[in-house]
Amino acid sequence: MEEKIRQLTERVESSVLSCADMRTLNDLKVGVLGKSGELTAILRNIKDLPPEQKPAAGKIVNEARVKLEKIFAERGKALEEKELNEKLASEKIDITIDKNVLKGGLHPLNIVRNKIVDFFVSLGFIVADSPEIEKNYYNFEALNIPEDHPAREIQDTFFVTKDICLRSQTSTGQIRMMEKVKPPIKMISPGRVYRSDNPDATHSPMFHQIEGLVVDKNITMCDLKGILELFAKEIFGESTKIRFRPSYFPFTEPSIEVDATCSHCHGAGCRVCKGTGWIEILGAGIVNRNVLKNCSIDPDVYTGFAFGAGMDRITNIFHGITDARVPFENDVRFLKQFN
Ligand code: DAH
Repeated sequence: MEEKIRQLTERVESSVLSCADMRTLNDLKVGVLGKSGELTAILRNIKDLPPEQKPAAGKIVNEARVKLEKIFAERGKALEEKELNEKLASEKIDITIDKNVLKGGLHPLNIVRNKIVDFFVSLGFIVADSPEIEKNYYNFEALNIPEDHPAREIQDTFFVTKDICLRSQTSTGQIRMMEKVKPPIKMISPGRVYRSDNPDATHSPMFHQIEGLVVDKNITMCDLKGILELFAKEIFGESTKIRFRPSYFPFTEPSIEVDATCSHCHGAGCRVCKGTGWIEILGAGIVNRNVLKNCSIDPDVYTGFAFGAGMDRITNIFHGITDARVPFENDVRFLKQFN
């Protein structure tokens, strides 16, 4: 019997090692230690032995049982661990990478807008919002635009009612700011504006402007020039130069239009600047005394400068886009190029 048990133990030991999964191991265990298992059968046979042999035989069988149980338990533990690791590996989900997901990106206009806003914020300007649906007062009267000014015509501005329009310029934000905050004021206000234009390569019924306003004691044209020079270099490159041309806006006096050297040909003349070497980038000037007065700011104490730039224009020049409609057609093939 002893020999039988030794052989059985040896055989089981090597079979256990070659068991590759829990299921096979369990089957094997049942076949040896189960109710009709091989070792259980040997144990049962003890009752047929002469009484004096029974204790020794019982001891041998029990020892074998303990040993085999230990062997099964150890292998079981190893297999369980192995199976768990395999399961974890096969069910692993990497939430950080999915190359098949389409990634969104910023619209070229927003890329330029962020750049402009970052620049002015770095100089201490605050960013202010202002309504797109606006009282005529803010779009015209307060900005010193007279009753008979052509911009007030129905063919130029979208009117919601007789007294309310879709703002045609972000200059409305100047008034909204000066009504609320007393100088010193240093703000920019980017946003949408609307004009009654038919869309073509250079016109759109909706476009984007950014307004700037600085009001304090002793603000002069030199301050305006210094800031706009830095601005043009920031957007179009270090070698950019600017020039002022006299102009007219009801809300500034004197008024200017500002040109920058063309960022594509650096002043030599090309398709983008229509051969002139210069590109108009914005309107600006010294805040008209009447505008300050309309906002209860004393023009004998305070002066200010203001500017308004077309952000779509700047974006299109920057990227060499020649048709203003294209950025708003939402063609992914076009938009993808900028991210
Ligand atoms: N509001 C003007 C426009 O829409 C742009 C402008 C010109 C804004 C001169 C200003 C300014 O603040 O000082 O054409």
